Amino acid sequence: MKEQYNWGIMGAGIIARKMAEALKKNPRSSLLHVGSKSGERASRFAREMQVPRWGSYDDLLNDKEVDVVYVATTHNFHHETAKLALNHGKHVLLEKPFTVNAEEADELIEIASKKGLFLMEAIWTRFIPSWKKLRSLLESGAIGEVRFIEVTFGKFVPPEFEARLKDPKLAGGATLDLGIYPISFCCDMVGEVPVKEKSLCRFSDLGVDELSCYQLDFPSGAIAQISTSYNLWMEDRAVLYGTKGAVILENFGGGNVLKVLTHNGNSSIENREEIVLSHDENGFVYEVEEIVNCLDQGLRESSIIPLKESRDIMELMDHIRDSIGLVYEFEQ
Ligand SMILES: NC(=O)c1ccc[n+]([C@@H]2O[C@H](COP(=O)([O-])OP(=O)(O)OC[C@H]3O[C@@H](n4cnc5c(N)ncnc54)[C@H](OP(=O)(O)O)[C@@H]3O)[C@@H](O)[C@H]2O)c1
Repeated sequence: MKEQYNWGIMGAGIIARKMAEALKKNPRSSLLHVGSKSGERASRFAREMQVPRWGSYDDLLNDKEVDVVYVATTHNFHHETAKLALNHGKHVLLEKPFTVNAEEADELIEIASKKGLFLMEAIWTRFIPSWKKLRSLLESGAIGEVRFIEVTFGKFVPPEFEARLKDPKLAGGATLDLGIYPISFCCDMVGEVPVKEKSLCRFSDLGVDELSCYQLDFPSGAIAQISTSYNLWMEDRAVLYGTKGAVILENFGGGNVLKVLTHNGNSSIENREEIVLSHDENGFVYEVEEIVNCLDQGLRESSIIPLKESRDIMELMDHIRDSIGLVYEFEQ
């Protein structure tokens, strides 16, 4: 156990700045080094975010004082960047989606396991208080057995994210970028990964999915219906229907209010409760805390998002992409 863990960031882009802020809030973490394919991007990031060391990926990975690396590149580079970091003996927090496909996920998990290194997909929402509370409500049977989940999660994404999201060369599209959140949410809440799916999408002019819908069939009998888009406003919420009631999570992408409705097996609601959870405005702080805890305990993965689950979700997303006909050129 170390008093402080030194972090590096690979990929000096937009979301890495939010992580840099989150790391500042964790007393056991220090952001020591930022690496980029562009020296100019690395030095600007270091200046803006007060990072003491910056340079190329090699500079960062050869820095013996860096313990853990946050990989925040575009999807197409997740696998090769994380692989490089693991092969240099660094623990890795890898942005979502874990990889582009299950084959890439398998290789990373194997390397991390052989080298005894920590590896985790950065699904930050799994660690926020509302998802944690929701899990405990379901475990306590508050709404009985979950039968159906509906999530709508679509928006006109801000212009700074558009280039990455629309570009097939960067493995853009709604499914890998946004769909991963509701898919991961449903798997988390049901406690398993679906065996079957039915999916539909509409393609953009550049050939990525801009609007996608999935129906997921879970072994337990639960069904989920998900709609997502990067250029359509949708109600931002999740509703979980159980045999004894329902829970509504407004502001699905990071909300802190849960509405719990219960009944006695008929259609009249007998009790309504609103649970408001306090949470940090930078939701990444919770995943940082989890990693520090895991490293303290010598764990090589988090039980909140186990590697097998990240991998199985990538396999499900492979099936979804097969169904909708989304193949990236670099995968062929
Ligand atoms: N957790 C969240 O809430 C959240 C939110 C948004 C995005 N994300 C995820 O974070 C990752 C990065 O997203 P972002 O919006 O931060 O991306 P971004 O700023 O557009 O790019 C991030 C980095 O990717 C590399 N890159 C970008 N465009 C490139 C290009 N055309 N050619 C070569 N390299 C390129 C660069 O890495 P170098 O600097 O190393 O060259 C860049 O600094 C993605 O995996 C995304 O899904 C997560």
